[in-house]
Amino acid sequence: MCRFSLYPVDLGLIPLLCIMSVKGKKVLHMDRNSYYGAESASITPLEDLYKRFNLPGEPPESMGKGRDWNVDLIPKFLMANGQLVRMLLITQVTRYLEFKVIEGSYVYKKGKIYKVPSTETEALASSLMGLFEKRRFRKFLVFVANFDENDPRTMEGVDPKTTTMRDVYKKFDLSQDVIDFTGHSLALYRTDEYLDQPCKDAIERIKLYSESLARYGKSPYLYPLYGLGELPQGFARLSAIYGGTYMLNKPIEEIVVENGKVVGVKSEGEIARCKQLICDPSYIKDRVTKVGQVIRAICILSHTIAGTSDNNSCQIIIPQNQVNRKHDIYVCMISSTHNVAAKGKYIAIVSTTVETNDPESEIKPALDLLQPIEQKMVNISEQFGPTDMGNESQIFISRSYDATTHFETTCDDIKDIYRRMTGSDFDFAEMERKQKDTFGDVDAADN
Ligand SMILES: *[C@@H]1O[C@H](CO)[C@@H](O)[C@H](O)[C@H]1NC(C)=O
Ligand SMILES: *[C@@H]1O[C@H](CO)[C@@H](O)[C@H](O)[C@H]1NC(C)=O
Ligand SMILES: *[C@@H]1O[C@H](CO)[C@@H](O)[C@H](O)[C@H]1NC(C)=O
Repeated sequence: MCRFSLYPVDLGLIPLLCIMSVKGKKVLHMDRNSYYGAESASITPLEDLYKRFNLPGEPPESMGKGRDWNVDLIPKFLMANGQLVRMLLITQVTRYLEFKVIEGSYVYKKGKIYKVPSTETEALASSLMGLFEKRRFRKFLVFVANFDENDPRTMEGVDPKTTTMRDVYKKFDLSQDVIDFTGHSLALYRTDEYLDQPCKDAIERIKLYSESLARYGKSPYLYPLYGLGELPQGFARLSAIYGGTYMLNKPIEEIVVENGKVVGVKSEGEIARCKQLICDPSYIKDRVTKVGQVIRAICILSHTIAGTSDNNSCQIIIPQNQVNRKHDIYVCMISSTHNVAAKGKYIAIVSTTVETNDPESEIKPALDLLQPIEQKMVNISEQFGPTDMGNESQIFISRSYDATTHFETTCDDIKDIYRRMTGSDFDFAEMERKQKDTFGDVDAADN
């Protein structure tokens, strides 16, 4: 059997390690931190969050009990039919977690926010579009819902591999505003580069949104009770069942490489030997390169966000075009409904890819939606990607978290590492079949 030593692990990598464990690999999991989840931890109590951001003094009494708070450093929601939920189901981590659906999904247009319409009925009811626009958008949604690559009759002359998305929009005569919210709040693209790519990917993404939404209503997004920090803990417990070892508080002194290939990891003077190594970029500075910067602002509010019908949790996407940018701005809002804040308090986290020397003013359109803000904590972090793809070294490095507020890009990275490690594609369908044979059907959300 092949031996793996796998370490520093942020949330993105943990599903991969679990999958490796489930597949019978021997996994050692080392983390320099004393808590699970590294960059993607949930911080509790609130006092610790204040310390982390060097805020003077203790949180005011109005913030309630510090223990009621579990604040994600990197907020993300799970698409109900998305890849992370599929990985959670395959690995059975769902038995340690409880999810609740996010109450609303909104999009910004000309300074105001609107509920994202993604079904025919919602499209017809939406105030986001004029009457004729609605009809055209409805036609487009029906086309996407029926689109089946294996059935040319459903494609209406659109070739998924050659027709660009720009041409598909043209075919349905959709206006710029409708294109903006379709591409950014349904297909969840971060930039407009997809417009000139073949439409297959965009159509699949819109289907994913609609099918996720159909799952639980309200929104396509799920979020675990007590915060994202619950995910790595669930994975750690699961990995133990499969014989994996999980060590916190393990400083990594050296990655030992012989003849260009990793042979082990040195921690506290001892070498744990391995044949392959997976880690995040923070552990291996000489094999990664800077790919960008992300700004994230954690805002504590005492009110729900105006225009969201008092939703206790929601996502807002500000398409780049609406605010003359290249990258979208995202807002994730959660509260005591998901057991992450004291009653009557709301955590809204704003994030985007940095484009200028003044990142804080870049997120102003989002901050304006949240006013008044009781407490704001801003972090700007560098993003890295691997320069060593691991062919020779057998060191597999993940990408830093991007600004998106869902896990789809993280899962793409996991699949990419999986392919580099094993030489074969990650086959969801096959793993799901095996899992179903063992455990029968399961569902993610209790809702
Ligand atoms: C969330 O907002 C939608 C409309 O934007 C509304 O229909 C729904 O009732 C709200 N849900 C809650 C729980 O407030
Ligand atoms: C800010 O982000 C960097 C990089 O992700 C991280 O190392 C640092 O701990 C963060 N700072 C705070 C206060 O969370
Ligand atoms: C390394 O792996 C990548 C992707 O798996 C592949 O495209 C590339 O050709 C490989 N390089 C070498 C030197 O084997």
